[in-house]
Amino acid sequence: VPVVLAVIVLVVLAGVVLVGASRRRDSGAAGLSREVRRSDRSNPALATGGDEALSGREFEAAEAAARPAGDVAIVESAPPAPFVAPDPVTLGVTRRQFFNRSIVGMMGFGLSGFGGACLAFLWPQGVSGFGSKIRVGNLIEVLADVENNNGFLYKPEGRMWITAYPNGAVEKARDAYSPAELAGMTAGTEQGFDAGVVALYQKCPHPGCRVPNCVSSQWFECPCHGSQ
Ligand code: FES
Repeated sequence: VPVVLAVIVLVVLAGVVLVGASRRRDSGAAGLSREVRRSDRSNPALATGGDEALSGREFEAAEAAARPAGDVAIVESAPPAPFVAPDPVTLGVTRRQFFNRSIVGMMGFGLSGFGGACLAFLWPQGVSGFGSKIRVGNLIEVLADVENNNGFLYKPEGRMWITAYPNGAVEKARDAYSPAELAGMTAGTEQGFDAGVVALYQKCPHPGCRVPNCVSSQWFECPCHGSQ
């Protein structure tokens, strides 16, 4: 029962709201609220000579009645006026031109910045350090440094190890290495030293761990997977 009563009350309230809203819309002259109409009536500057009492519908009906029937003016159709291009000097820079130039200018500015950044990124950097020619000293100094460092000389600027290459292994090496690699290996036999030299990149050819030297074995053993 309370639910039924609540539904009935809600329906009645909804009806009251609908009726009130429709009456308000009908009675408002040109959609103005009662407060606005009252304020307009009290304003002498807005006095219209008694029309303020008319509702919107009444006003429309009065206008329609006052309009003479069939009194519609016929306007002769005229050919369109010929187009005369505006004088560009008088016009100056139009808004369209201004925006077009701004957009193109900003795009050009952005693209040139991007291009400059790409060039700077790709420009060869090998002017010093790794990737460029580095000086490690002459053969006498290098062999002395190798000996003083227990057979391994690390050169961080080249990310490499330098070790002595025995003269007795040079003949075998000739079949296996390129002339550039042989240049250091054969330096001992060709220049009368006890050994040549060989430079080894610090990274393992397996996935690339950095390989330390092993003084006890006088060899290189990769700590990752044991390559030697
Ligand atoms: S990375 Fe050196 S053995 Fe695997």
